[in-house]
Amino acid sequence: MENEFWPLFDLRIRTSRIEIRLPNDNALGDLARLAAKGIHDPVAMPFLYPWTDEPSPLLERGMLKWGWRHRAEWASNNWTFNGAVFVNGEVVGVQSLMATDFAALRAVKSGSWLGLAYQGQGIGKEMRTAILHFAFEALGALEAHSGGFIDNESSLRVSRALGYEECGRRTVLRRGIPTELLEVRLDKSQWNTTPHTKVEISGLDDCRDFFIAPDSTVS
Ligand SMILES: CC(C)(COP(=O)(O)OP(=O)(O)OC[C@H]1O[C@@H](n2cnc3c(N)ncnc32)[C@H](O)[C@@H]1OP(=O)(O)O)[C@@H](O)C(=O)NCCC(=O)NCCS
Repeated sequence: MENEFWPLFDLRIRTSRIEIRLPNDNALGDLARLAAKGIHDPVAMPFLYPWTDEPSPLLERGMLKWGWRHRAEWASNNWTFNGAVFVNGEVVGVQSLMATDFAALRAVKSGSWLGLAYQGQGIGKEMRTAILHFAFEALGALEAHSGGFIDNESSLRVSRALGYEECGRRTVLRRGIPTELLEVRLDKSQWNTTPHTKVEISGLDDCRDFFIAPDSTVS
């Protein structure tokens, strides 16, 4: 056990190719190095908050602070799970899952990125499938939300491939320029209609209360 008081570190979400787990400080450092090597063409900006514009070492420090902040602010029913994604024991990116008032709303939101060297090989789709399986099948979520800038083809294609449907558009400032953001939503009923890669979860029993407050009822 990584830390008896923080069993979240021992939660594992796996497919035959990837493993998702909460990064410890070493893994956060690996993620920081990976992000500094590049996540996207510097001309483009896929993120709402343009954190990849930070020069080194601020980008790397920012990555550590981001990991620590979400750990420190974790609350039952209100959480951001920033899962590090591993392939063959090497960290390749992040798959996040967030919820607010989870027991009452049973809705989740996701965000993700991969190091450039790992993109375009189906890993993005597989890690989203894994986290959706975790949300719908293990936590009892009823709907999942995501979104992407209108020109972020790979991100929007992952969503479309998994059955999400467009549920709104809004214009936000991207590097100071108004840009359209597409919002998408996937219902549990829609999720149930499509076959998915097999996903295995371990270590949830010891940290279920991190996700759902023990006095809330989720069936
Ligand atoms: C978005 C991201 C996580 C997707 O992961 P990925 O492993 O590259 O995607 P996959 O290989 O699983 O491919 C998913 C779909 O996108 C398509 N795709 C992949 N790379 C693409 C590209 N550069 N341009 C257009 N389409 C692309 C694939 O063909 C596939 O579509 P299909 O299911 O219709 O065949 C990854 O590309 C990434 O980290 N991008 C930069 C950061 C980012 O945009 N994060 C999301 C912010 S909203």
